[in-house]
Amino acid sequence: MDEVNNSFEKNKHVIELINMCKSYQVGEMEVPILKSIDLSVKKGEFVAIMGPSGSGKSTLMNMIGCLDRPTCGQVIVMGKDINRLSEVELARLRGFEIGFVFQTFNLVPRLSALQNVELPTYANKKEGIGSARAKELIDLVGLQDRAGYKPTELSGGQQQRVAIARALINDPSLILADEPTGNLDSKTGNEIMNIFTDLHNRGRTIIMITHDPELTGYADRVVHLKDGVISAT
Ligand SMILES: Nc1ncnc2c1ncn2[C@@H]1O[C@H](COP(=O)(O)OP(=O)(O)OP(=O)(O)O)[C@@H](O)[C@H]1O
Ligand SMILES: [Mg+2]
Repeated sequence: MDEVNNSFEKNKHVIELINMCKSYQVGEMEVPILKSIDLSVKKGEFVAIMGPSGSGKSTLMNMIGCLDRPTCGQVIVMGKDINRLSEVELARLRGFEIGFVFQTFNLVPRLSALQNVELPTYANKKEGIGSARAKELIDLVGLQDRAGYKPTELSGGQQQRVAIARALINDPSLILADEPTGNLDSKTGNEIMNIFTDLHNRGRTIIMITHDPELTGYADRVVHLKDGVISAT
């Protein structure tokens, strides 16, 4: 573990995937989804991930976000090999350091927009994060007049903006966003990209899945995924 931590301090790689693979068990069959992935992301980088539907982008994001463990190889997040972490340690790493914008939002239906944004702080509250922050983030994503609405009372794009605000509540050093503008019109999408650019300028690491080639212009680098294999970085 120390060796890995030292390598994080030296190289400042926030993410290192080493010969990583992921299969799913479907009935009797083991279906390979990600195949021998090698990918490093440096602290402060903005990386876009592109690839056809079903190529494994969300699966890759789940691995980077420590939501699942690899079938083979290593996933090293901020110098920590996730295979060596307990579930509690993994939950802390996710809660304090990683902001995840899910492709399907994953909002809690019975909570208001504002409460959904606050939710991560119920379990893990980072020092210096005050109670006003959720409201500030709701304003930042342009939902000041919808703070008390439940997810079912919001449009798809509004739910997506709640999901983005929630990912930012603990001021994470690593932001993982799965098609964060997929449900937004181009004006709102550009506003969200401006928020991401600002976070990037303030040294946050951002990994974003997108199918929109125009949005890759915001990134330092584009990673292409096809049939579970990275074809170019
Ligand atoms: N829990 C699971 N069990 C079995 N197979 C799964 C599971 N999750 C994903 N898959 C399969 O893995 C493949 C990749 O899925 P993934 O969601 O990563 O694709 P994607 O690149 O994000 O696609 P999209 O652009 O449509 O969101 C798909 O063929 C899918 O059927
Ligand atoms: Mg996906």
